[in-house]
Amino acid sequence: MPSISNKGRHMPASPIRKLVPYAEAAKKRGTHVIHLNIGQPDIKTPKVALDAVRNHTIEVLAYSMTEGSEQYREKIAAYYAKKDIYVNAKDIIVTTGGSEALSFAMGTIMDAEDEIIIPEPFYANYNGFATAAGVNVVPIVSSIDTNFALPPISEFEKLITPKTKAILICNPGNPTGYLYSKEEIMQLAEMVKKHNLFLIADEVYREFTYEGRTHYSILQVEGLEEHAIVVDSVSKRYSMCGARIGCLVSKNKEVIQTALKFAQARLSPPTFAQIASEAALETPQEYFDAVIEEYVSRRNILISELQKLEGVKVAVPQGAFYCVVELPVEDADDFAQWLLEHFEVDGNTVMVAPAAGFYATPGLGKNQIRIAYVLEKEQLVKAVQILGKALTKYNAR
Ligand SMILES: Cc1ncc(COP(=O)(O)O)c(C=O)c1O
Repeated sequence: MPSISNKGRHMPASPIRKLVPYAEAAKKRGTHVIHLNIGQPDIKTPKVALDAVRNHTIEVLAYSMTEGSEQYREKIAAYYAKKDIYVNAKDIIVTTGGSEALSFAMGTIMDAEDEIIIPEPFYANYNGFATAAGVNVVPIVSSIDTNFALPPISEFEKLITPKTKAILICNPGNPTGYLYSKEEIMQLAEMVKKHNLFLIADEVYREFTYEGRTHYSILQVEGLEEHAIVVDSVSKRYSMCGARIGCLVSKNKEVIQTALKFAQARLSPPTFAQIASEAALETPQEYFDAVIEEYVSRRNILISELQKLEGVKVAVPQGAFYCVVELPVEDADDFAQWLLEHFEVDGNTVMVAPAAGFYATPGLGKNQIRIAYVLEKEQLVKAVQILGKALTKYNAR
């Protein structure tokens, strides 16, 4: 039989999906599974976006421009200007989700065997994009004890080698919920300038910041224009993950010109989804105010319920809609599987994401899970109560 590639062999499977068969089996047994494991928001997509598609009278669903429709990119630039981020339409390439922007970014600036430093725990798919690009991920540990704040710059500098091309951050973070302060961003900016590196910021959760905190983008740092690359997406902002629209943004012309060649190879981003995403930019501020209020109250109730459980440690998220929780177990992977296979309360069980898959350093995060609070409050409370009972039973086995 012809053999598949080494790259294919090394391509990581999603750490979350491996529990899916156990969840499916639980459902077949009649158990209701409360999903704390996925970041699919239950919030409604803005009506303006859906109406734009419903009411459109397109007769030929043609390719759009490779870099995305000009009108849409102009409007994205106007959206950024409202956030005090000043870019032009020509600094933007519309992509098929933030996912494609990540792979364009890696392909554009890195060769096989080059290194990218990423604070861990990090969004697990970064591993997949890096493997596809042949790039090596060099993790730098951030700790639950500091709420996953930026590790000291001196620790980054210890990891920089002649192969290092970029630092990648996620702000606010999935899975950590940490929001980097302006000071932290400035420290990173100084470091990448000093070592002549790129700084990629995945800012897909930009809108989701809590308690009046404001997001500071790397595109706002003066003098960082040649280094800064932002990955963005409509998926979470407008609860339209299925649209598959994102963008890559950089003031560095060579980066954009090169990324455009990768974009040309896939012809164009989806046409209908751009129409929806363009209309979504008209979403009134009240939509976001209501969404943020909802997430804050979900977060507050989730954290206070978790803090009632003995031996449980939780990093309080300041943004996005995830949190990392340390459990009094040795192996959260085993616990998560056991929950689905052997535990229920009144016909309900819980599916969590073991956090080890969000770390690149073997052994780290083994006793941690990630919770996504994209469910209604009653469900969250019920889920944490189930978790508490499960921990007692699991540890008494
Ligand atoms: C941190 C982060 N970046 C990027 C993505 C990719 O999103 P999409 O491709 O839907 O834009 C996700 C999706 O969950 C994410 O959490």
